[in-house]
Amino acid sequence: IPVEPFDLVIFGGTGDLARRKILPGLYRRFVSGQMPPEARVIGAARSEFDDAGYRNEVRDALVEFIAKDKLDDDRVAAFLDRLHYVAIDATGEAGWSELADLMRENVVRAFYFSVAPSLFGALAERLHMHRIADADSRIVVEKPFGRDLASARQLNQTLAEHFEETQIYRIDHYLGKETVQNLMAVRFGNVLFEPLWNAQYVDHIQITVAETVGVGGRGGYYDKSGAMRDMVQNHLMQLLCLIAMEPPSRFDPDAVRDEKLKVIRALEPVESRDIVRGQYQRGSNSASYLEDVEDEQSRTESFIAMKLHVSNWRWAGTPFYVRTGKRLRARQSEIAVVFKDAPHSIFGEEAGRHRNILTIRLQPNEGMTLGVTIKEPGPGGMRLIDVPLDMTFADALGPDNDDVTDAYERLVMDVIRGNQTLFMRGDEVEAAWAWTDPIIEGWQMRDMRPKPYEPGTAGPEESAMLLHRENRRWRAIR
Ligand code: BG6
Repeated sequence: IPVEPFDLVIFGGTGDLARRKILPGLYRRFVSGQMPPEARVIGAARSEFDDAGYRNEVRDALVEFIAKDKLDDDRVAAFLDRLHYVAIDATGEAGWSELADLMRENVVRAFYFSVAPSLFGALAERLHMHRIADADSRIVVEKPFGRDLASARQLNQTLAEHFEETQIYRIDHYLGKETVQNLMAVRFGNVLFEPLWNAQYVDHIQITVAETVGVGGRGGYYDKSGAMRDMVQNHLMQLLCLIAMEPPSRFDPDAVRDEKLKVIRALEPVESRDIVRGQYQRGSNSASYLEDVEDEQSRTESFIAMKLHVSNWRWAGTPFYVRTGKRLRARQSEIAVVFKDAPHSIFGEEAGRHRNILTIRLQPNEGMTLGVTIKEPGPGGMRLIDVPLDMTFADALGPDNDDVTDAYERLVMDVIRGNQTLFMRGDEVEAAWAWTDPIIEGWQMRDMRPKPYEPGTAGPEESAMLLHRENRRWRAIR
């Protein structure tokens, strides 16, 4: 179903995110018929291009980031026709009146701030000064949304000077992933899971986001962030919220975000013995973290594992183990809900026992698996085995779905539709920082050095210990 006609201005329209994700995503929406023919995309950045020059740049980006068999010359040409460009000075006056002249009446106006957060204020102010943004316009902002509570508050205040909260779309691309949304469908569309979704039946929950890439190329940014700021404060926190939240009364933006906020506020402070930080070492053909960031002394973590507690009635006593890291054995993101043992085994210990585990795979092989105990078929008597009830989404998504871009294109279309459900509200972001800040301050005060780990593993030994000491184990990364 096509969305309404729109003018989408991408500030930072020649930047990496625009080339890799936003523009290829828009092309795909165009091909699928969701982007209406009257829609336009306006690149805005410092470089001096005319429309033709910008279209050439975008064509190169499409060739680079879209599979060849998905590129069709006629469609690419038709898409590029929808593109315009304005050379603009975010902090000066150049280009703003040209942009104002270009905007059309009676279409949705959206502004994607794909630029450094330090420019958000200048952009917001100029959009208003030149009457380019109106009360219906939307702005889209990217992470990092601050680097602590104080800076996030500052950013929120700056944006609030010119825009209402209902106009601000803070992207967390994890919320655009197919399986993440499916998590809500499974939890709240079925009667099966919800009665068991609590401390009484759930032994613990694991959230893993493992990556094989290092930080090479992004060292400058990453070394100032680390896994905690780069992944936990946003992506993992959002996953935890969707797993742990109470059922919202409706699937509408504030109902969902109110419930997520309550989860973040219920997070207990984390003790240092429940945190493991790691840094990858040099591999046979990969540089070490310290080499990647070109700083022998860096104490930034490229891996983190933690045990968290959500203190409320539903989850009291159920640990949430979360971990994420770079240069691990495999790219694998999943959530596992590990249920408790059956209270009594009528078959005797020799029959074997298996726990029910619901695994929600974000990537790769998006889908869910529920481990169910059955009798081993055959005449061997009552022996129990664990078999997976498997729901793999590959058929629906297509075999070469690129989940990252897929998340972006879905979210950009939601902006045009005016649906904020999958975007973070300002108070959520602040609450997440309020929880994160003391943890990071603790490391800094004690000048903690992350534990080294071999690339291609599941992270430092200490991460395994975090669960072993409680007779639990991480699910394998493979
Ligand atoms: C980004 C982080 O937000 O998410 C990156 O800045 C990380 O460091 C990326 O690699 C992971 O996203 P995905 O969709 O590939 O899991």
